[in-house]
Amino acid sequence: MGFHAELSNQFASSTERLTKEEKIESLEMLVESYKALAADTKNLISNLANASSLLWFCYKGMNVNVNWTGFYILDSSDNKKLVLAPFQGKVACQEIFFGKGVCGSAAQTGETQLVPNVHECENHIACDGETKSEIVIPIKFNGKVVGVIDLDCLDLNGFDETDKFYLELLAESIATSCNWEKYI
Ligand code: SME
Repeated sequence: MGFHAELSNQFASSTERLTKEEKIESLEMLVESYKALAADTKNLISNLANASSLLWFCYKGMNVNVNWTGFYILDSSDNKKLVLAPFQGKVACQEIFFGKGVCGSAAQTGETQLVPNVHECENHIACDGETKSEIVIPIKFNGKVVGVIDLDCLDLNGFDETDKFYLELLAESIATSCNWEKYI
């Protein structure tokens, strides 16, 4: 690897809607870039910090108007609560209980939550009133939800099944590449 920042620079910088093929190419690059970085360290904080950055540059590059890309992880002192972890974007709520909000729903059910319009989702927690759509993917370590990936978008329908597929691959990779046992 040359400069680490090159991994952020490599994504498309589109001002238009990407074709499905171009989108898949960017999302595959996201997952592969994460794996390349995680080959150097198992440290959870380092890997989530770099993953947040990759997510931000990948989605901005795809001309998706993301306003938050990041993580909540299980609170080690309370197995039913998520706490704020590395992210890109504006300040966000620090604690989310299982079952609360889109993040808490993903944590409780173990299923990805794809929300095309947060204003039609009663359980949504508005950290930023400008958010219009959201996707949350659970991260499972030894079968247990240990965290979530959360992406927010300023437009309706910001995410679709292709995002879900590749973000679930990223979640699997994050589950197996980090020293979760030290933090949860
Ligand atoms: N909207 C989330 C809360 C976290 S922020 O979006 C960063 C939710 O409903 O769980």
